[in-house]
Amino acid sequence: MSKRIAVIGAGPSGLAQLRAFQSAKNNGEDVPEVVCFEKQDNWGGLWNYTWRTGLDQYGEPVHCSMYRYLWSNGPKEGLEFADYTFEEHFGKQIASYPPRAVLFDYIQGRVEKAGVRDQIRFGTVVRNVTFDEGTGQFTVTSQHLPTSERVVEEFDHVVVATGHFSTPNLPSFDGLDRFNGRVLHAHDFRDAVEFKDKDVLIIGTSYSAEDIGSQCWKYGAKSITVSHRTAAMGYDWPDNWKEVPLLQKVDGNTCTFKDGTSKDIDAIILCTGYQHHFPFMEDSLRLKTANRLASANLYKGVAFIDNPKLIYLGMQDQWYTFNMFDAQAWWARDLMMGKIDLPDRAAMEADVADREAREDALEDDYACIDYQGDYVRELMEETDYPSFDVTASNEAFYQWKKHKKKNIMTFRDNCYRSPMTGTMAPVHHTPWKDAMDDTLESYLKN
Ligand SMILES: Cc1cc2nc3c(=O)[nH]c(=O)nc-3n(C[C@H](O)[C@H](O)[C@H](O)COP(=O)(O)OP(=O)(O)OC[C@H]3O[C@@H](n4cnc5c(N)ncnc54)[C@H](O)[C@@H]3O)c2cc1C
Ligand SMILES: NC(=O)c1ccc[n+]([C@@H]2O[C@H](COP(=O)([O-])OP(=O)(O)OC[C@H]3O[C@@H](n4cnc5c(N)ncnc54)[C@H](OP(=O)(O)O)[C@@H]3O)[C@@H](O)[C@H]2O)c1
Repeated sequence: MSKRIAVIGAGPSGLAQLRAFQSAKNNGEDVPEVVCFEKQDNWGGLWNYTWRTGLDQYGEPVHCSMYRYLWSNGPKEGLEFADYTFEEHFGKQIASYPPRAVLFDYIQGRVEKAGVRDQIRFGTVVRNVTFDEGTGQFTVTSQHLPTSERVVEEFDHVVVATGHFSTPNLPSFDGLDRFNGRVLHAHDFRDAVEFKDKDVLIIGTSYSAEDIGSQCWKYGAKSITVSHRTAAMGYDWPDNWKEVPLLQKVDGNTCTFKDGTSKDIDAIILCTGYQHHFPFMEDSLRLKTANRLASANLYKGVAFIDNPKLIYLGMQDQWYTFNMFDAQAWWARDLMMGKIDLPDRAAMEADVADREAREDALEDDYACIDYQGDYVRELMEETDYPSFDVTASNEAFYQWKKHKKKNIMTFRDNCYRSPMTGTMAPVHHTPWKDAMDDTLESYLKN
């Protein structure tokens, strides 16, 4: 096949795309040439941890939003690859909430086995993507960061897999510019130990707020105050943890909230989410969507309606992650290889409208889990991605929700059954709140 495909990003989504093509090749199919561009020096996307914040060694924005001591916030039974189980990788079943290093190792194991590393140009950032209606080709301009050398090439398809949890959403608050402490966004948070003995204010109520607050609590912060715009998280928090309405103003170290209460604070962490940000795409090719389950303008959540030769992977808000990216990548592969036919534009728009309407009608988190599980199932059924028991994965997520509600500081001590192999995860050797060592070696001692 003479087609050429550009994949931008070698995180879990981009690697899923490489693995999807490699799997077709293994089955004897004639696959296109695939070139993957990755601006970092290694694969793994957000899971490739760095101490750096701000700009990297080349002056590029640092991609990493992860931090030391980060453990999975959902059960691994919800994200397991159907074609490469935890038991295959580790040679045994492991506990259910692995730290970052363990999940990085797992992601890496599958693509090492697939032998796709030589398709990736590391240290190479994509600067510009345009489309020529006449030739039907994309022009991709990339730059090798260590040498600054620019390369301009043509491709038949472009797959954008650059993630959407890296460019911070940064609201401001009255007086923040005169705050006598440290202000940072979750994207720049690296080590909870920095906040030991401090009074920490967190803005936001989603996963970053919950988890960064929990890390700071675990590593010895004096108090945690979480300020909400819409609603409090409502968990049964430890005694030195309070939930308050939105921050109204800052005066020196004193933070005053909408209900008139105030507290002296040492550090403010903005856990206010991220932007879908694609500065390298020409405007007509740039995805503009909120962080939701039904992304705008993507047929089947994947093909860009204005130009369906362009694919976006992993752009949804995520209950499901790795195996959803796989289902999308397998489906996108079959589209690009001509095995799936696209309907006309009106039908593609109706597909998006239907997904949005169904999402808008969802009543609670359990319904959201089912919705995204159904989406994974839908894509899987249209490809040869190894089928798995989505209902069993949904069940692991339900149990996770219940365990969080029961005790937010012990939910990671629970274990679940693998939807892929049917085996039960072992109980971890140390409760999460006492496990200070997040290395792979320590986690695997069960
Ligand atoms: C703090 C945090 C914790 C998380 N924890 C979990 C968890 O516990 N479990 C879970 O399942 N999910 C978690 N997630 C969700 C996470 O989004 C997914 O697990 C996954 O990393 C998404 O993969 P991706 O490949 O789509 O994007 P990313 O992992 O963001 O990878 C994108 C890649 O694209 C590269 N790139 C970007 N721009 C360019 C460019 N112009 N040129 C070349 N390369 C480029 C980046 O360097 C990066 O390698 C977490 C997210 C965050 C922010
Ligand atoms: N350990 C882990 O595995 C871990 C840890 C952290 C993050 N993550 C992942 O990272 C991803 C991103 O999560 P996230 O929590 O960073 O982002 P998010 O889910 O998009 O949540 C953004 C939060 O910011 C708030 N917010 C936005 N603008 C605001 C404003 N102007 N004023 C006040 N509040 C504002 C929102 O409040 P409203 O409700 O009012 O809109 C919401 O609570 C998720 O996939 C999550 O799973 C995982």
